[in-house]
Amino acid sequence: MKELNVALLGLGTVGSGVVKIIEENRQQIIDTINKDINIKHILVKDKSRKRPINVSKYHLTEDVNDILEDDSVDIVVEVMGGIEPTVDWLKGALSQKKHVITANKDLLAVHLRVLEDLAEQNGVALKYEASVAGGIPIVNAINNGLNANNISKFMGILNGTSNFILSKMTREETSFDDALAEAQRLGFAEADPTDDVEGIDAARKVVITSYLSFNQVINLTDVQRTGISDVSLADIKVADELGYKIKLIGKGTYENGKVNASVAPTLINKAHQLASVEDEFNAIYVIGDAVGETMFYGKGAGSLATGSAVASDLLNVALHFEYDLHTLPPHFELKTEKTKEMIDDESDTITLKEKENYYVVVDKQGLTEKDIAETIKGALPLHKNLDVQERNQDTVSLIVYGVDDSPQQSIEAAGLQVNKVYPVEGVHA
Ligand SMILES: NC(=O)c1ccc[n+]([C@@H]2O[C@H](COP(=O)([O-])OP(=O)(O)OC[C@H]3O[C@@H](n4cnc5c(N)ncnc54)[C@H](OP(=O)(O)O)[C@@H]3O)[C@@H](O)[C@H]2O)c1
Repeated sequence: MKELNVALLGLGTVGSGVVKIIEENRQQIIDTINKDINIKHILVKDKSRKRPINVSKYHLTEDVNDILEDDSVDIVVEVMGGIEPTVDWLKGALSQKKHVITANKDLLAVHLRVLEDLAEQNGVALKYEASVAGGIPIVNAINNGLNANNISKFMGILNGTSNFILSKMTREETSFDDALAEAQRLGFAEADPTDDVEGIDAARKVVITSYLSFNQVINLTDVQRTGISDVSLADIKVADELGYKIKLIGKGTYENGKVNASVAPTLINKAHQLASVEDEFNAIYVIGDAVGETMFYGKGAGSLATGSAVASDLLNVALHFEYDLHTLPPHFELKTEKTKEMIDDESDTITLKEKENYYVVVDKQGLTEKDIAETIKGALPLHKNLDVQERNQDTVSLIVYGVDDSPQQSIEAAGLQVNKVYPVEGVHA
């Protein structure tokens, strides 16, 4: 039987999950790809470290050249993380005509296109199923399952740590700080939780999902980003009374050939499927023009869940090993033509932008709720029925429906102080 020689960069949480899956599901793998997988080398930082799996039968190395210079290695699986020197090692592997599989969203959010191009030039695959929403096979779903669709929008709960914190705040009426401390105690949050709670991790996944969905390369800085550290119990309670839950939502929409991408605490209607995604779970909701609404749910992290996504990439590369691989999303040409048409259309009549809804918190500044409502109605003339609610002793909150953009500027121009603005989703007209 043919063997596929694989080298792992990293043997931590995800790497050991991948090894376990290959060991425990070996027969299932052989039955699927008609080849056996031989783990030829494993790169680690410190060979003497104790491992959760038996590594005696593997060649552990601290020198990446053992892998890059071994012509018999077919596939490099990068599960070590970091951007430098990892990106150079992946470029080296692709240039040596080795297929590359990576779970590294930090790296892909910056270098995805360069690596895709290098993979294409060398006729090898670049796969990254685990980089978005861990165990949920969303990359495969968009690239293959939905490839006959034009995708207009995706939105998702893409960070388990922030979802765990918001779920706990909502269920137990605890503060952000207490919920974060509990997440850290249970191992759901890092000692430095900035990337998770400030939406940076989710923004990286939005960059990758935008590329898959719309075939547009956006920068991390193009993603408008607000984290959850500013979400208070008062917001959660007001949202609950109005029929919403607050979730950290990563979103991409494709309008007039342009991607709008954001990460923000968002009020999700309790009737929407995303509202029921709790604790450390992830979910992504995707709208395609043919299929309509779809949703994908599961574990966004963890050794075996993430290992499952990496192993799936391994099997998919193996299945197509002898064929000419298409490493770019299959709808690339289609989308590019459509984009060109829309950009070239000088009549300027295409308006795909949907109306938006926003939750707004305004400082009272000694004014009554009635005064504030009148001022806002003056600032937003189309909004006659604003429901301004007391949020706490210093602020009021309201939802503004059906506007083109955030109403913050108009409200502030009328002399009020806007304290925060969150998007609202799942509103049924
Ligand atoms: N954890 C998850 O649930 C999850 C989910 C989705 C995506 N990911 C992504 O998967 C990747 C791996 O995450 P992880 O949680 O498995 O990380 P981890 O537990 O910290 O493991 C990292 C591994 O890489 C090795 N390593 C790190 N830097 C190295 C270097 N410079 N040279 C050689 N070896 C090095 C470490 O070696 P030692 O063991 O010797 O220290 C360790 O085995 C990251 O990109 C992460 O964003 C993780």
